Amino acid sequence: MEILLAKSAGFCFGVKRAINLAFGTAKKRGKVFCLGPIIHNPQVVEKLKRSGVQEKESLEEIKEGTVILRSHGVSPEVMEEARSRGLEIVDATCPFVMRSQKFVRRLTEEGYFILIVGDRRHPEVQGIVGQAKGEVLVIDSPEGLKGLKRKERVGVVTQTTQTLSNLKEIMTQVLERAREVRVLNSICSATAKRQLESRKLAGKVDCMLVVGGYNSSNTNKLAEICQEVNPHTYHIEEARELSPSWFNGAKRVGLTGGASTPSWLIEQIVKKVRDFEKDRAGA
Ligand code: F3S
Repeated sequence: MEILLAKSAGFCFGVKRAINLAFGTAKKRGKVFCLGPIIHNPQVVEKLKRSGVQEKESLEEIKEGTVILRSHGVSPEVMEEARSRGLEIVDATCPFVMRSQKFVRRLTEEGYFILIVGDRRHPEVQGIVGQAKGEVLVIDSPEGLKGLKRKERVGVVTQTTQTLSNLKEIMTQVLERAREVRVLNSICSATAKRQLESRKLAGKVDCMLVVGGYNSSNTNKLAEICQEVNPHTYHIEEARELSPSWFNGAKRVGLTGGASTPSWLIEQIVKKVRDFEKDRAGA
């Protein structure tokens, strides 16, 4: 059985940076707090916990010390609250997310109506919404524009995990509803690359494995894309979820991972698939 691994599978630049900052700060300070999970991967979060990175739901739970702001970023209100509590702030916001935040801040000051393409429940989107002072709308499909009155000036920004096809569809309709439109295509190339590679790979294999947190937006999107081209697609977090029956008759197995999936989890999965193969050969 051949196992084909997507070249881009695993940590992206922003996640690597955030993880290194968290490990480095915990080593220096002994203990450090993180507001929410630093990345959407429970196994990495658990590992960080053992190194002294404690996850907290809100700033109210942090009385003193150092707080890491995760890769998805936070709103200016949260930043201000952390400062006013006298906490040391280590900002692990991905520089690409910071760029979107800056864009919205500038346009909102210039009086633009802000349109964010993304999932309103996602912390990255919530952090961007927080930058807007005036009117703001979050949509995840063109249907979200229904009922929107014509605007003079619209500023559009996307969640980094969005697809270009969705943005294009939405833009066609936005142009009919506004006189002036400014767009920041903030779809992250790391995400787009993973999506393209995974789609290609899923089309070439008998069984496709997508590894990553169930709470990871970019991993869920990868699983969705692979499922479209290959019905034998399985989204898993860990090797122990694998079932030998998935590989019955399979000659080629594809493996990809989200931007928040560590390489050691991917390696464990490759090993387990190989073990299944050995067991079968020995039976
Ligand atoms: Fe940043 Fe892109 Fe990763 S936005 S966190 S480099 S997926």
